[in-house]
Amino acid sequence: TQTKQPDCNIFLIGFMGAGKSTIAAELKRQLHLELIEMDQLIEEQQGMPITEIFAKYGEDHFRKLETDMLVSFQNKTNTVVSCGGGIVVRPENQAYMKQSGKVVLLTASPETVYERVKDSSNRPVLNGHMNVEYIAGLQEKRRALYEAAADIVVATDGKTPEEICREIADRI
Ligand code: S3P
Repeated sequence: TQTKQPDCNIFLIGFMGAGKSTIAAELKRQLHLELIEMDQLIEEQQGMPITEIFAKYGEDHFRKLETDMLVSFQNKTNTVVSCGGGIVVRPENQAYMKQSGKVVLLTASPETVYERVKDSSNRPVLNGHMNVEYIAGLQEKRRALYEAAADIVVATDGKTPEEICREIADRI
């Protein structure tokens, strides 16, 4: 198993609850990378939670903040970026990620996603739709975008974070 730094960035993408934050922390540990949590960094920079950004300024504004932030990562390397689940919604984001890194798509079944996010109060796109059917539908709507953006696809159901990281490290 490879444990040396990849000399590029790793962008973790995938639906809410696919495990991006958990795997990013594990990759940081195993590959000695800098870690960036995009949602958290946006919240820090804006001084308010994601839900409030959506409520006050709308989703489009949040998507613009995401794109601006991706652009600001262009000169980084050996950084693992845990992206927001909707990072693929803007087509230009694909290119920004591919220019400076490998894009790793984490997938999880709608049932797994539901179990991981059901108690969350900071997922505005699931407000009022916290159920398996809605999650499955939104995953389906985004599937082509996720797949087009991904260099590597890793299924997470039933695997430990260690196993998932090993698979990523072996394939990048
Ligand atoms: C979103 C996912 C969230 C966050 C925002 C929008 C989405 O990130 O960026 O609520 O549209 O899928 P997580 O995937 O970390 O929950």
